[in-house]
Amino acid sequence: MTRLTDPFARDITYLRVSVTDRCDFRCVYCMSENMQFLPKKELLTLEELDRLCSAFVRLGVSKLRITGGEPLVRRGIMTFFDSMSRHLDSGALHELTLTTNGSQLAKYADDLAACGVRRINISLDTLDDDKFAKITRWGRLPQVIKGIDTAQKAGMRVKINVVALKGFNEDELFTLTEWCAERDMDLTFIEVMPMGDIGNENRLGQYWPLADLRATLASNYSLTDLPLNTGGPARYVELAETKQKIGFITPLTHNFCESCNRVRITCTGEIYTCLGQEGHSDLRAPLRATEADGPLEEAIHRAIGLKPKGHDFDYSRQRLDGQMSRHMSHTGG
Ligand code: GTP
Ligand code: 5AD
Ligand code: SF4
Repeated sequence: MTRLTDPFARDITYLRVSVTDRCDFRCVYCMSENMQFLPKKELLTLEELDRLCSAFVRLGVSKLRITGGEPLVRRGIMTFFDSMSRHLDSGALHELTLTTNGSQLAKYADDLAACGVRRINISLDTLDDDKFAKITRWGRLPQVIKGIDTAQKAGMRVKINVVALKGFNEDELFTLTEWCAERDMDLTFIEVMPMGDIGNENRLGQYWPLADLRATLASNYSLTDLPLNTGGPARYVELAETKQKIGFITPLTHNFCESCNRVRITCTGEIYTCLGQEGHSDLRAPLRATEADGPLEEAIHRAIGLKPKGHDFDYSRQRLDGQMSRHMSHTGG
């Protein structure tokens, strides 16, 4: 089987699949308060998701990340994880993982661990109850902390994703860092990206460049750049005082597209070969046209043949250049 290589000679080995556009939170940088979600009949069924992901695994994808929206609010999703674990058992898949807001983890962490999920990324932007309720609109912090506890007890390695938000979590930089160190969790900061209409919120006002965050961190800790490359977009530093590894994801200030190894599938079966471009292709039609996988695999190859060089996000002119019409929840971050 021919493996997946794009026009810039990048090998595609990492697939991110959004299994639902719905979420039980409404984070202010991600969604507007009155989000319109897709009718359920538009979604790929769990069986179709299985067929699609299995085709990618056959074509050389070795890392599969399940996202949303919030993936754990999709009904029956544990059946899907359970079924995907066969690719871990066969050795074809090296990692099965997810990005979650943590709200359902108290319920599902043990089952996820049993399906072979060893690492999990959890979004958490503040450790203050009131601020948490404000930023997520619908979320409650204690529920998420309970989820994190359960995930750690189940033996999963936890990475906390913090979106750096000016005037919101600037004052919690050290608290969040120490909290992750105490609990032996990895920590990654992310620059806010111009994804989708978020109502009256001001995205430029939210933007806290990670170079500034890093300088603040350096006022309190000794930072050493790590040569580590996990195949993801993050660059890492180590803090001498806590021995912690901290990741920076800087789509605005440092474009990391040259080493991009990933593509994304939406919950309706569209493939986006770049998070920061509008171009996409449909995989649902070839998936539904026949039970044979040949046309589907050809469509996947065709789509990857169109993968663009990179995104064009840019706030440097004090406006949202490179803005995407779709929300992060559409393509799963
Ligand atoms: P690991 O490296 O496996 O931990 O995963 P990750 O950091 O790629 O995944 P995660 O879902 O935690 O993503 C963290 C943030 O990075 C999200 O906000 C993503 O949108 C962002 N991100 C991930 N991949 C890309 C990418 O290819 N381009 C851009 N611009 N942002 C990305
Ligand atoms: N910019 C940056 N990160 C975002 N996320 C959601 N919307 C945005 C945005 N506009 C983050 C979530 C989660 C990850 C999947 O994406 O907080 O950590
Ligand atoms: Fe939901 Fe994640 Fe978007 Fe927040 S950032 S609304 S948790 S999908």
